[in-house]
Amino acid sequence: MPALLKIDVSPRRERSVSRQLGQAIAADWLMRESSGRIIERDLAGPRMPLVDWEWIDAIYVQPDNPTPEGRALMRFSDVLIDELFAAEEILISTPMYNFGMPAALKGWVDQVARLNRTFTAEYKGLLLGKKLNAIITSGGNYEPGSYYSKMDFCSGHLRAIMAFIGITDTRIYMAGDTHDITQGKITMSDYVSKHAPKLIEAFAR
Ligand SMILES: Cc1cc2nc3c(=O)[nH]c(=O)nc-3n(C[C@H](O)[C@H](O)[C@H](O)COP(=O)(O)O)c2cc1C
Repeated sequence: MPALLKIDVSPRRERSVSRQLGQAIAADWLMRESSGRIIERDLAGPRMPLVDWEWIDAIYVQPDNPTPEGRALMRFSDVLIDELFAAEEILISTPMYNFGMPAALKGWVDQVARLNRTFTAEYKGLLLGKKLNAIITSGGNYEPGSYYSKMDFCSGHLRAIMAFIGITDTRIYMAGDTHDITQGKITMSDYVSKHAPKLIEAFAR
């Protein structure tokens, strides 16, 4: 049974553009993969643990003899990594915050980029044969060639870190100008209707 790991990031829940676009893509995927299952990971839920001393101690310093707190941290990181291994496709729907990825998404990255689990000591990625699609919503416009495109530190970082852990078949769709929705120039449903077919085309392999 094929599996899609669907990762949502925005804390704006039902007001979130990235979540609505992600939902349209997930629905399209389910239509094509009728026996498929979706693994949901909502990063706006409980906060990701930070990489602090307890985390480093458990994961890298004494992984064979962690403290009870360290064992819990390791288990949580393992759950997130297992979700990646379980899925053939991954869909990340995220806003751009301050020209980069939101802290919640960076927190997830910090949990899943792990020596001997997702990359080797020789820096070889271990998550092979997967497809990644990502939707990045932003108030401004960062399309290649646009005025602000040089300020997009979100898509390049995401692409690079996912390649580092082995996921190289990546498509990223920049859904810009969402401020038009807040400013009442376009409705949410018109925005989603405008972008959903382009997204489906952009993600087709
Ligand atoms: C804290 C914060 C930082 C933001 N930083 C940027 C930014 O750097 N560039 C940009 O174009 N939009 C920025 N935005 C706007 C969001 O990217 C935009 O509203 C996007 O649609 C949010 O996604 P969502 O609707 O899924 O929550 C920011 C919004 C917030 C709340």
